[in-house]
Amino acid sequence: MQSARLSIDGNTYELPVVEGSEGEIGVDITKLRAESGAITLDPAFGNTGSCTSDITFIDGEKGILRYRGYPLEQLAGNATFLEVAYLLSFGELPSASELASFEKEIKAHTLLDEDVRRFIEAFPRTTHPMTVAAAAVATLSAFYPSNPNDAELTRTNIIRLIAKLKSIAAYTYKHRTGQPFMYPRSDLSYSGDFLQMMFARPTEPYKVSGTFEKTLDLLLVLHADHEQNCSTSTARMVGSSGADIFASISAALGALSGPRHGRANQEVIEMLQMIEEAGGDHQPFIERAKDRDDDFKLMGFGHRVYKNFDPRARLIKAAADELLAELGADDPLLEIAKQLEAAALEDEFFIERKLYPNVDFYSGILYRAMGIPTEMFTVMFAIGRLPGWLAHWKEMKDDPNGRIYRPRQIYTGPTERDFVPLESR
Ligand code: CMC
Repeated sequence: MQSARLSIDGNTYELPVVEGSEGEIGVDITKLRAESGAITLDPAFGNTGSCTSDITFIDGEKGILRYRGYPLEQLAGNATFLEVAYLLSFGELPSASELASFEKEIKAHTLLDEDVRRFIEAFPRTTHPMTVAAAAVATLSAFYPSNPNDAELTRTNIIRLIAKLKSIAAYTYKHRTGQPFMYPRSDLSYSGDFLQMMFARPTEPYKVSGTFEKTLDLLLVLHADHEQNCSTSTARMVGSSGADIFASISAALGALSGPRHGRANQEVIEMLQMIEEAGGDHQPFIERAKDRDDDFKLMGFGHRVYKNFDPRARLIKAAADELLAELGADDPLLEIAKQLEAAALEDEFFIERKLYPNVDFYSGILYRAMGIPTEMFTVMFAIGRLPGWLAHWKEMKDDPNGRIYRPRQIYTGPTERDFVPLESR
């Protein structure tokens, strides 16, 4: 076994080196503090592995993303979202009969307690759908039993969450628009049923578009997991305290709602609309993104891990071209996005920093083409990412050596000083 040596103040510490199945190496510092008194400092965890994991492999330099060993490019378009959810949750692709019974179980759990529906209805119509979704998921623990140490119940709750988040998501939209809620339908596929719950009205028959159903399923597959990203790490961290699965997933939704993470998909479209409204010239926006005194960033650009290209972005861009061609439709924002991408990729600032379009850059074009409104985009991301959160939460729970996540810090505040009574301050 390889090891690393670290010298601090003349003392040398031998640290084991852990090697992953793809040859990645990590220096194991679990005993460092006990032996040396020192901790490692890595704000924003750019170099820190918080766990070992069997679920997803990413090589950001090569643009590789694999779920349980399967390349994303092979899963995309060949496996349904529920097949991928099964793969992530249980480790292997399902056989035909395993898939059939998994789908049946999901369908058995799509209905929400009517009080959850009423809870959603109590929000002001203007509330962001992510706020409603995170609150509704947290409230599920009031309606359904949960015990993180009960494996059978955890399995049921994984199925419950996959089944119910799509109902919750569609209800946030129906509530926002003041339309009657549509109940889930068991004769439809997972993605088809979501489209039905979003767009059907009780007054007329609704036919699910096969093209949209296929596109949505693909988008969900492409979002299904991404190893230790901010929201997934949040789910693991909250769960590590022994908190239940609903609280952990609600916290992950909260993490995803930020513009540096899942909300970037909404902000990309808002940025493209701004460019369109300003006459279509992307250059001033590129200049703003480069200006260190301006907070503005090119939304949908850059990634902590990908330094070459984001494989999800490539697949989504191709799917956007395909969908719009199939619909015979045109989206001026797609043209603006392509021009912006081309200009940024030739710009020294973006080249030097290895900034490429990420998963969020083109996904909004697809959602728009399906009629999904901009403020729903991050909830769409959440439905897709849910199986990843659940798989990681379960992996964390199943680790016999699992401990509460509790990072350290280097304190930089005042040293000890005496309390000054109020009248003397
Ligand atoms: N536009 C302009 N400059 C950027 C951008 C951008 N989108 N992204 C990074 N930079 C610059 C950044 O200012 C820094 O410059 P400098 O070296 O001069 O200080 C350099 O590139 C390195 O960036 P960083 O901030 O250290 O990168 P990070 O790994 O901490 O952040 C990120 C990654 C995704 C939060 C960031 O690239 C970003 O804010 N992008 C826009 C938001 C976005 O698209 N988020 C979705 C990410 S993918 C889906 C998901 O995970 O949710």
